[in-house]
Amino acid sequence: MFMENKFCPFQIMHGFNNLFMFMYALLFVQLLALTYQPVLGQQGDGVVVTKSDYQALRAFKRELIDFNGVLRSWNDSGYGACSGGWAGIKCVKGQVIAIQLPWKRLGGRISEKIGQLQALRKLSLHDNVLAGPVPWSLGFLRNLRGVYLFHNRLSGSIPPSIGNCPLLQTLDLSNNSLTGTIPSSLANSTKLFRLNLSFNSLSGTIPPSLTKSPSLTILALQHNNLSGSVPSTWGTGAGNRSYLLAILTLDHNLISGTIPSSLSKLGFLEEISVNNNQITGTIPNELGGLTRLQKLDLSNNAINGSFPSSFSNLSSLVSLNLEGNRLDNHIPEGLDRLQNLSVLNLRKNNFSGHIPASIGNISGIYQVDLSENKFSGEIPASLGSLANLTSFNVSHNNLSGPVPSLLSKKFNSSSFVGNLQLCGYSTSTPCSSPPPQILPSPPTRPLKKKHHHKLSTKDIILIAAGALLAVLLLLCCILLVCLVRKRSASKGKNDKTVKQAAAGSTDKAAPATTGVEYGGEAGGKLVHFDGPFVFTADDLLCATAEIMGKSTYGTAYKATLEEGNQVAVKRLREKTTKGQKEFETEAAALGKIRHPNLLALRAYYLGPKGEKLLVFDYMPNGSLASFLHARGPETIIDWPTRMNIAIGVTRGLCHLHNQENIIHGNLTSSNILLDEQTNGHIADFGLSRLMTAAANTNVIATAGTLGYNAPELSKAKKSTTKTDVYSLGVIILELLTGKSPGEPMNGMDLPQWVASIVKEEWTNEVFDLELMRDVPTIGDVLLNTLKLSLHCVDPSPAARPEAQQVLHQLEEIQQPEANVGSAEEGTEEVPPPSTTD
Ligand SMILES: *[C@@H]1O[C@H](CO)[C@@H](O)[C@H](O)[C@H]1NC(C)=O
Ligand SMILES: *[C@@H]1O[C@H](CO)[C@@H](O)[C@H](O)[C@H]1NC(C)=O
Ligand SMILES: *[C@@H]1O[C@H](CO)[C@@H](O)[C@H](O)[C@H]1NC(C)=O
Ligand SMILES: *[C@@H]1O[C@H](CO)[C@@H](O)[C@H](O)[C@H]1NC(C)=O
Ligand SMILES: *[C@@H]1O[C@H](CO)[C@@H](O)[C@H](O)[C@H]1NC(C)=O
Ligand SMILES: *[C@@H]1O[C@H](CO)[C@@H](O)[C@H](O)[C@H]1NC(C)=O
Ligand SMILES: *[C@@H]1O[C@H](CO)[C@@H](O)[C@H](O)[C@H]1NC(C)=O
Ligand SMILES: *[C@@H]1O[C@H](CO)[C@@H](O)[C@H](O)[C@H]1NC(C)=O
Ligand SMILES: *[C@@H]1O[C@H](CO)[C@@H](O)[C@H](O)[C@H]1NC(C)=O
Ligand SMILES: *[C@@H]1O[C@H](CO)[C@@H](O)[C@H](O)[C@H]1NC(C)=O
Ligand SMILES: *[C@@H]1O[C@H](CO)[C@@H](O)[C@H](O)[C@H]1NC(C)=O
Ligand SMILES: *[C@@H]1O[C@H](CO)[C@@H](O)[C@H](O)[C@H]1NC(C)=O
Repeated sequence: MFMENKFCPFQIMHGFNNLFMFMYALLFVQLLALTYQPVLGQQGDGVVVTKSDYQALRAFKRELIDFNGVLRSWNDSGYGACSGGWAGIKCVKGQVIAIQLPWKRLGGRISEKIGQLQALRKLSLHDNVLAGPVPWSLGFLRNLRGVYLFHNRLSGSIPPSIGNCPLLQTLDLSNNSLTGTIPSSLANSTKLFRLNLSFNSLSGTIPPSLTKSPSLTILALQHNNLSGSVPSTWGTGAGNRSYLLAILTLDHNLISGTIPSSLSKLGFLEEISVNNNQITGTIPNELGGLTRLQKLDLSNNAINGSFPSSFSNLSSLVSLNLEGNRLDNHIPEGLDRLQNLSVLNLRKNNFSGHIPASIGNISGIYQVDLSENKFSGEIPASLGSLANLTSFNVSHNNLSGPVPSLLSKKFNSSSFVGNLQLCGYSTSTPCSSPPPQILPSPPTRPLKKKHHHKLSTKDIILIAAGALLAVLLLLCCILLVCLVRKRSASKGKNDKTVKQAAAGSTDKAAPATTGVEYGGEAGGKLVHFDGPFVFTADDLLCATAEIMGKSTYGTAYKATLEEGNQVAVKRLREKTTKGQKEFETEAAALGKIRHPNLLALRAYYLGPKGEKLLVFDYMPNGSLASFLHARGPETIIDWPTRMNIAIGVTRGLCHLHNQENIIHGNLTSSNILLDEQTNGHIADFGLSRLMTAAANTNVIATAGTLGYNAPELSKAKKSTTKTDVYSLGVIILELLTGKSPGEPMNGMDLPQWVASIVKEEWTNEVFDLELMRDVPTIGDVLLNTLKLSLHCVDPSPAARPEAQQVLHQLEEIQQPEANVGSAEEGTEEVPPPSTTD
């Protein structure tokens, strides 16, 4: 709050844990401000806004209706405009470079005078109630990079002049009331990255010029009135360029014609949605070459022909929806190569032949809808073994024979009805005892046959159990739905996140860097590795940021991008990193490391002045250190949570040591970060590779004072797998005792303190008090974990286990159930409890 809106990249907000953090924040705000001043943002050093920009802003304000009074601060004669006094304005050298006033209930219209703000780079007025047209004069702004006007009530047509902005990267006019056609000139900007015109009333055809843009990554035109066919000129721009298009959403329009085979030239495509249009013809076999495609939705069109056999090559496919078309013939086998497929919807087509048994090999699939087709034969038994299958429908086909019992138990009869010869899925459709053998019986027999004998007790129990299961399942579903709702509500724009989850890009673009590069800000350079969000350098630099903490490598921020997505940004300290070439090679290697317990590096940014930013996943639960030591007295962390963290961290460390050949060198509870499910993710690994030798020595020295360093490090200043295991041992002790290794106990460090008490056999005293309640049940587990962690902190490196052995033992400690057995069943066989004492 104290310096809101003063500068890009990172507007610092409140949210510090304590005074110490606050002081650090102050210090680093200064540093950051100093470094960034030449790049972006004016710090109110007395440069008054230019006369022309002042007039433009006045006119801009005059035409708006300020329901919330946010523009009241625009009250002086211009002095405050560029010194942080005017809400939502950022300047460089007295010229306005950004207007950012989203979610401010601004009505009225956007003044044409905005074209006078010659330095304007970013116009963000999304989620307001603005009416009137998109100003034509935006086309005069040679520096314009981002236009975010989505979720308003703008009307009129899109001014073709916007194509004159050579640096435009993002144009998001979605969810307004725009009419008219899409100007073909929009493709004139060679930097255009994201074009979202969805949810308007645009008509006419899709300009073929857009299909030739080498920079376009996201093209979203869904929910309009577009007609004509999908252009057939994809990927035919000049030269042998690679095309970056990752997301193509054209659904809910009036588009006719066929699916062009040229789409297969777009090797980065991850999502195609052309559903709810009037597409005819067949699906081109060439689409099978899109190896990165994760989502394909062609539902509710008039597509005919067969299921392309090449689809078995779509190895990244997660969701396939062909519902509501006229596809026929049989489904080719080979679907089991789609190992990532979760959703398969072929409903309402004219498919015939058998249901491919290979679907039973797609172990993670959870939704299969084959209803309203002409499938015949039996339901393959392999489908019964799909543990994650939660939605299954084969109703209204020509299926016959018995429903695999695992399926009939899980799904009710609505999943199977409408198949005259299918049996065994409800009490009214019993199969004759050994179904395949009784061939002579007429096909109608199973339906007519009535069992007269009374239900045995076993049957009744089975039925009751089934009913109970169904009720439980229903409750689970309701709970799940509530949870999902709650989550998406708290996330606000969950939908967007999901869409963008498909937009990550990886190596292939440039062999030298293995990441995809995007045009940088003022000579800066942003390199992306695969990950859930794509953003431009501008998005990153102008993100709202909040300091999270500081480590030996630099300062960490939580940054909120324009779309509401959050990332963690680490700003590396000046003069501690290697030269640019070496840095980029090492960063590219780090960007490839992926493991559920290692914090993933998603991108890096090199600023024109040598600033270096690393972008990681944001972990909402903070560090293990603050989770354990900075919580309220009423917050209890139970043992399973602690054990889960210990095992996760150990898994991450194993991966580092064994797969990546990386020594962490600075493993502490402060650089173990926790996600929503409190799984541990190790951060700061491999960063030493980006640093100069001098900087690394410094890291070791600092770590030593925190109580995680193995004793031998005081002599040999070289980390090894054994010094990492020592640090791991300290962390497990920290989890067990709830004590911070930073605070000495009677002059001893944490391992010594624990060892001293254990020696005197007061073992239970070392445990965190809140774990003591559980000692009667998990006492052995705690003791065994304690022994293991003391083994890890053995003063002699040779005596310590390797991370792999620690993992093995932790997993053994965690799984003692192997000999408990199934107590619920067969009560008569359980011997009476022994009372020997
Ligand atoms: C202008 O607005 C700011 C912020 O609302 C306020 O602090 C200041 O007193 C106002 N100045 C004048 C001259 O009204
Ligand atoms: C469009 O914007 C309105 C608010 O202006 C919002 O309620 C609605 O959800 C948005 N629709 C989409 C599809 O984003
Ligand atoms: C911009 O696009 C229009 C229409 O596509 C074209 O006629 C014009 O020549 C383009 N201008 C430039 C400078 O490329
Ligand atoms: C599309 O156009 C038709 C008439 O051509 C109109 O009735 C309909 O409202 C339009 N739909 C949208 C979303 O604008
Ligand atoms: C495009 O690449 C192919 C081989 O990959 C090469 O034969 C062809 O000459 C290239 N064309 C141009 C215009 O560079
Ligand atoms: C698809 O339908 C069109 C007519 O709409 C027809 O000409 C064509 O032969 C059909 N193709 C197949 C493979 O059925
Ligand atoms: C799948 O891809 C391989 C290698 O590109 C190719 O040889 C094969 O013909 C493709 N399979 C189908 C069914 O298209
Ligand atoms: C399948 O999904 C996993 C986990 O999301 C991912 O790591 C893997 O690369 C995917 N496989 C393919 C072929 O895309
Ligand atoms: C489905 O296929 C049958 C032949 O197998 C054909 O007679 C029927 O017209 C087709 N139905 C549709 C809706 O295409
Ligand atoms: C599919 O499962 C069958 C047995 O159910 C097995 O024989 C076959 O090897 C599996 N295929 C693949 C590709 O896993
Ligand atoms: C089944 O779902 C669970 C929870 O989403 C997941 O952890 C597991 O990996 C899935 N199983 C398979 C075989 O994909
Ligand atoms: C495009 O805009 C719509 C409406 O605002 C939004 O729902 C959608 O997620 C956006 N698509 C992309 C790919 O950004």
